[in-house]
Parts: sequence; C-alpha cells; structure tokens
Amino acid sequence: DKAGHRHFMAKEIAEQPRVLEDVLSHYIKDGRIVLPEALDFREVDRITLVGCGTASLAGQVARYWFEQIAGLPCETDIASEFRYREPPLSDKSWAIFVSQSGETADTLAALHYAAPRVARTIGVVNVGTSAIAREADVALPTLAGIEVCVASSKAFTCQLAVLAILALKAAHDRGRLDDAALGRHLDDLRAMPALMSQALALSDDCAALAGWLSEASDVIYLGRGALFPVALEGALKLKELSYIHAEGYASGELKHGPIALIDRNVPIVVLAPRDALFDKTVSNMQEVMARHGQVLLISDAEGIASAGSGTHASLAMPSEGGVFQAMLYAVPMQYLAYHTAVAKGTDVDQPRNLAKSVTVE
Ligand code: M6R
Repeated sequence: DKAGHRHFMAKEIAEQPRVLEDVLSHYIKDGRIVLPEALDFREVDRITLVGCGTASLAGQVARYWFEQIAGLPCETDIASEFRYREPPLSDKSWAIFVSQSGETADTLAALHYAAPRVARTIGVVNVGTSAIAREADVALPTLAGIEVCVASSKAFTCQLAVLAILALKAAHDRGRLDDAALGRHLDDLRAMPALMSQALALSDDCAALAGWLSEASDVIYLGRGALFPVALEGALKLKELSYIHAEGYASGELKHGPIALIDRNVPIVVLAPRDALFDKTVSNMQEVMARHGQVLLISDAEGIASAGSGTHASLAMPSEGGVFQAMLYAVPMQYLAYHTAVAKGTDVDQPRNLAKSVTVE
C-alpha cells in the first residue's frame, strides 16, 4: 500500500520523521540511552563497521562520530572486500554489521569471518528475523518498518540513528562526554524527526531541479567529513534510480584528479552544512565554478547567503542537528534522485538489474 503516494520510494522517504521517532524513542528513554548491557564500550579498542551499498555508507558516516565524539579508533569496509582481505582484527575490538535485509551474502560472510576474531559482533538490522540478526552476538533493530523500494531511504536514516546512539554511548562510557554534554547531543537527536519534516518540505524544490539533472550524463556530489559518505549516497541513489552516471568525492580530493571532469555540462551537488569545514568546502565549490561547473549548493539559509552567489541553484536546509546534521542531508539526496527518476520515466521502485536483497555474492 503506497498510502496515496505514487511510488513506495516517495512513501518511504516521507515516513522518515515517524520511523526516526520510533527508533529514537526505543533507544532513548527519560533522557538516557537504553542498550543491551553487553554494550559497555570501556574495554573496546577498535570498532570495525561493515556493510554493502547504502548500509556500508551508514557505517562510513558513523566512523566520523565514533572517532570525533568517542575518540574510538574505527575502520569501515565494504563486506565483499572485508571478507576476503584477511584483515587482522583485535580480540578487544567489536565489529558492527549494518544491513537492512539482514540477509546480504557478503555481509553475512563478513560476520562469519569476524565472529571468532573479535570480542563482540553487533548487527544493526531492519529485519529482526534475518540471518544477521540471529547470528550476531547483539542485534539492534533499526525499526524502519518494511522497506519495499529497492533503493534504500528510511532504512539508511534509521541505521544512522542507531549508530549515532552507539557513538554517544561509547563516548559516555569512555569518559569523553559528561552527562550534560551527552544530554545536549541526545537533544540534538531527539530534534531530528521535526528537522527531518522540515527537510521533507524541500521535495518541490528538488522536483524543480529534476529537469536540469535529468539532462545530464554525469553528476558529481561533493562533501567533507561526515558529508563525504552522504555525497557517496547521493551519487548511489541517482545511479540506481535514474541510471545517470554519478560519483561522490571528498571535496578535498577534487584537485587530485576529478576536477578534470568539470565543464559547463556537469552539475555538481555541494553538501555544505555550516560546520567547521564549511569554508573549505566553499572554496572547493568556487574552484569548480571557476571551471564553469553548475553548482547546486545545499546548506542552511546563512550558508547560502554567504556563499550562494553564482551557483545554479541552492536548497536551504535546517541549521540545527549539531554533529548529526549528516542525517538530514540524506533527504535532498533521496528527493533529487527520486524526482530525476520520475522526470526520466525510469522504474523508481524496481530499478533495472537490481534486487532488494542480494543473497548471492
Ligand atoms: O539489505 P542490505 O542493507 O544489506 O543491502 C545492502 C545493499 O544491497 C543496499 O543498501 C543497496 O545498496 C541499496 N539498493 C541502496 O539503495
């Protein structure tokens, strides 16, 4: 049932405020984090985050949180590489497997590789009865509800919510956050559903850009910090849904090669929340504009006022959300891909060549 929406994708994007509310209220009660007792981060020396596709990108976003908020060394990998590269793993480390379906063959094999080598395996899964949920030492449900569209949307933001809570728990357990600081971060998370509703209001603005994007044969997404994997997610979504070639790059990597791709036919989507890296991202954006790249700037109103001149278009995001703003920026990634696919007439909910659950490698 599409609940009045034209596609499951549109329904699932729109559900994000509600499912985020569900997952946050499951893990945060009376201002405290509620997680299984086994998850005491004091003795952990390293976190490894593994998944495929969008789930691996959720892990990549969370790495910034584990490192910056909890000071916990963290590595990420895609499951298809992790399972075969024979990574040495510390027996004091924990490995986190992120998967919507909980059945992805490579992610399950990665769990089998890690299980005898690490202190604990954790599954961050949407399907509670799945293999990864059953086999991980600890299964943490993402509570996004059934996701029908092959392209992931609400499952991604719910994965981010669970991983954000884990990073905060790690920071608190390890003495990096006192109660007051933890409380402020939890307030930022609790504000997410309402901020997500504000971000959903950008759907029409994204639809208005779909004609422009659908004419392109290549689109580049740029971000720094936690917004780098969100840029990768934006590019993945556009590829999947509209079949337009798209790549995400860390903005700072641009001048090491990708800037050669820029000309007036290449739309560049710049993810630039007003965080500590804003000025750096803006200066990369200006380098692109000097080469006649057509920029879509995604920032908050102040960021757009200070840096938006000369851009092709901009999208004004909420400025709140603290260190977890990356979650919000997933929404314009989803809507740009969705509306571009609708403009091109591709099969939004069942893109060609793709399966919702990839149970063979
Ligand atoms: O079920 P999983 O989360 O393990 O699936 C992983 C990927 O196959 C999945 O995220 C895929 O990249 C999506 N189609 C992206 O939208």
